Amino acid sequence: MADIGTDHGYLPVSLVAAGQVDFAIASDINAKPLKKAEKIIADFKLEKLIETRLGSGLSVLQPGEVQAVVMAGMGGLLIRDLLERDRQVALKMKKLVLQPMNNQAVLRKYLEQRGYRIIKEDLCQEMERIYEIMVVVPGEMVISNPLEYELGFEYDQHQHPLLKALIDRKIYLENKIVLNTQGKTTAVAKQQFAVSSQFIEKLNEVKKCLSN
Ligand SMILES: C[S@@+](CC[C@H](N)C(=O)[O-])C[C@H]1O[C@@H](n2cnc3c(N)ncnc32)[C@H](O)[C@@H]1O
Repeated sequence: MADIGTDHGYLPVSLVAAGQVDFAIASDINAKPLKKAEKIIADFKLEKLIETRLGSGLSVLQPGEVQAVVMAGMGGLLIRDLLERDRQVALKMKKLVLQPMNNQAVLRKYLEQRGYRIIKEDLCQEMERIYEIMVVVPGEMVISNPLEYELGFEYDQHQHPLLKALIDRKIYLENKIVLNTQGKTTAVAKQQFAVSSQFIEKLNEVKKCLSN
């Protein structure tokens, strides 16, 4: 597997140490985090099983070189752009695990339009933050309910135990936009206010359905 944007390198170290993968590539665009990863890899004596590479996104990989890639802790727009830039590498993966910190809806739309299928969605929580994790394969999917872009593919079928917490977090973030734009007179602010207010209403409706 390859961990793109590895930072500390904890993920490849734990996967290799647990025997879940034979070999990993830990990559980062910045030299400083990569040095941190190299130190941890050395501490665990895993230098032969984890290779580090400095560079941006999937450009550090050859098509078919690894079976799986993880892109976690980066923004959804960046993940989308990295997938698009090295499309021939991305589409050769057997599995892509994506964990965007924001703009999740944009990323899901991109995946739908550019030949990917989400096979599993998961959520996890740390403090007040809810992390959205998508397991993706090359293929096709059709997102029929627009809320699936925001809340996860087929969110209503799987009903994750953290779904309510995710909705509350999204309502909280949208409320911030509403408070910031309320009463402002520019066209952009009015538009943001309207979009966020409508979105909050929809999220509240979903929440009601979940409690029934
Ligand atoms: C917040 S850390 C995430 C670390 C780890 N993946 C995690 O989820 O805990 C984001 C990392 O992505 C790296 N990064 C940012 N843009 C990148 C790019 N275009 N290609 C590779 N790495 C990138 C940063 O240097 C940083 O180390």
